[in-house]
Amino acid sequence: MSCVWRWSLLLGVLSTWVRALSTSQTVLILARDASSAYSAYSGLNGYGIPYQVVTVPSTGTTLPVLGNTATGVGNYGAIVILSEVAYQYANGFLSALTTAQWQQLYDYQTAFGVRMARLDVYPTPDFGTTTAIAGAGCCNTGTEQLVSISNATGFPTANLKM
Ligand SMILES: *[C@@H]1O[C@H](CO)[C@@H](O)[C@H](O)[C@H]1NC(C)=O
Repeated sequence: MSCVWRWSLLLGVLSTWVRALSTSQTVLILARDASSAYSAYSGLNGYGIPYQVVTVPSTGTTLPVLGNTATGVGNYGAIVILSEVAYQYANGFLSALTTAQWQQLYDYQTAFGVRMARLDVYPTPDFGTTTAIAGAGCCNTGTEQLVSISNATGFPTANLKM
C-alpha cells in the first residue's frame, strides 16, 4: 500500500465526514397546507430555529434542492413531514410525494447525516406499529381509537411510566 494512496484515502474519509456536518440549520417542513404546518413550526419558533414550509398539494410538487454532495453543502439540518402529505386518491390514501422523492429524502439523510421526523402517520409495520384489529381503519366518526404501549424499553428517554 503506497503512502500517497493511504493519504488520499484518509483525506477522502475526512472530507466525507466534514461534508456530512456542513448543513444549514433550517428545518424543512413538508405539510399539506400552511395551517397544518403550524403544528411543526410552532415548537421551532420557541427555540429560534429557522424553518421553511413547503406545502404539498394532492397533485404533488417539486422538492426544493436539498443539498449538493459535490460541494458538500446541505440546505436543511432536519426534515419534518406531517401526515405523510397523504391524500385520498382513487387507488387509496397515499402520499403526494412520489417514490423517487421519498428516495431523494432518504438519500439526503444518508449523505448529510440529518434526521427526518414523520408525524401523524397511520400505524404500519414500517414504524413498528399496527392497528389493534387487523383491517380495521382508524377512526370513523364516533369511533374511539385507544392507544396502548406494552413495552417502553425501546425509548427509555421518553419518561413513560408503565
Ligand atoms: C421490549 O423491547 C425490547 C427492545 O426494545 C426487547 O428487547 C424486549 O424483548 C421487549 N420485551 C418484551 C417483553 O417484549
